[in-house]
Amino acid sequence: MPMNGDAKDGDYSYKGGRTSLSTRGKRALEPFSPYIKAVNEAKKNPWSLTNSDGYFVMATAESILSFDLVHDKIRGCREVPATVGLYGNFRGGERLRNAISRMMERTFMGVEVDPSHICISSGVTAVLDLFFFATCNPGDGCLIPAPYFPAFDNDMSIRNEVIPIPVQPTDTRTYIPTAQEMEEAVLAAESKGIRSRMLLVTNPGNPLGTLYPEATLKELLLWAVKRGLHVLSDEIYANSKFGPSVDEFVSMEKVTKNAVAEGLLSADTAAELVHTAYGMSKDFGMNGFRVGCLHTKNKDLLEFWQNMGMFAAVSNDTQHALAIMLEDESFVDRYVQENNKRLKKSYDVLTKSFEAANLRYMPACAAMFCWLDLRNLLTESTFAAEDCLWKEILDEARIVLTPGQACHYVEPGFFRVCYASMAPSSLEIACARLTRFAEKKRRKRKSRGGEVEIDIIVRNTH
Ligand SMILES: Cc1ncc(COP(=O)(O)O)c(C=O)c1O
Repeated sequence: MPMNGDAKDGDYSYKGGRTSLSTRGKRALEPFSPYIKAVNEAKKNPWSLTNSDGYFVMATAESILSFDLVHDKIRGCREVPATVGLYGNFRGGERLRNAISRMMERTFMGVEVDPSHICISSGVTAVLDLFFFATCNPGDGCLIPAPYFPAFDNDMSIRNEVIPIPVQPTDTRTYIPTAQEMEEAVLAAESKGIRSRMLLVTNPGNPLGTLYPEATLKELLLWAVKRGLHVLSDEIYANSKFGPSVDEFVSMEKVTKNAVAEGLLSADTAAELVHTAYGMSKDFGMNGFRVGCLHTKNKDLLEFWQNMGMFAAVSNDTQHALAIMLEDESFVDRYVQENNKRLKKSYDVLTKSFEAANLRYMPACAAMFCWLDLRNLLTESTFAAEDCLWKEILDEARIVLTPGQACHYVEPGFFRVCYASMAPSSLEIACARLTRFAEKKRRKRKSRGGEVEIDIIVRNTH
């Protein structure tokens, strides 16, 4: 039965009770990656002291480690001024833009941040969605160094039909991308009729939890702007650095400022093409508050947000409380320091248990992830075997991990482990389950003919 007689460019026919939606609406009916279904199921039956058979969800980038501090603080920031009931500025209210700029400037950007260059929306997801809408046409491509955060695919394609172009690192010991690899990816995409429009980098990284060296950021930046590509640096984990690391965190804005000062880039081009995303979800454990922002000097983009920001605005009430919290600089500094201590403690629990069980991982120094190498538990080096292993971990260890394939990594056998969504005491139990599983699996493999030796990932931290 046709649901809409005017539909010309979509199939609106009613099938199985699900297709009263448009063609593009239908795309959203399936989760963006198969592992999301398992996450949703596992969340209905979580592990607890009274449900020892429950699941550990280690596939969601959520941190509960320091929310007690934010919780205490934000309760004291809850004033309700008479103006909260009115429409506000859809690029974000002045008070929060001031407070967030100041916090970004002080804590990680390392350059002056002008509040008039900030656009606030309901989370970085919304920022990305609006950004892709504003800068790309359907069918345009976005280059992303792999492995990358699985939901980027959804963020760019579900509404805006932008095509993700994962760029695999040639150097699989450090995973550091090069401009040459980007150039080759642009040409390969072009041969398929895809015009590359932008480069998306995440620093600190998801899923690796590592930092890009300043020289790499500079190389990628100069290459991208020379090609006329927008550069969006997602720095949502910029205040989650617990080290140690050979590289310091350097923001893309700082790299850009230096490149302009060195005469390698014009200030106008930089203003047009270089942008940063930041948000409260990760460093402050405030996923549920839905607050993110774009820093850009691009005048058209700022103007665009004035209109389109209404589709993803943050409530004035939340903005107000958050502004008060961020204005307390000594709270922010204490919080960031303490949160990094807690991240480090959990990271140590995790990696010590991996080391005790001889499980390989890529050492991290930031964010809330660990890239686990289970290649030698695969029956063969295929994504079908990775999928089987992932399911076994789900069913036997009752742990949900993010498979490497979902992160667009080219080699099977890697998994992203999110370790901040539970207290360290629960993490110990989760680790014991995972290492028991791995040991049992190894014993079985050995009895069937031995393990395959694989190059150990080199530490890019020390
Ligand atoms: C790199 C990265 N960007 C963006 C997001 C989305 O964050 P938000 O909750 O602000 O939408 C995430 C969440 O996991 C992320 O890891």
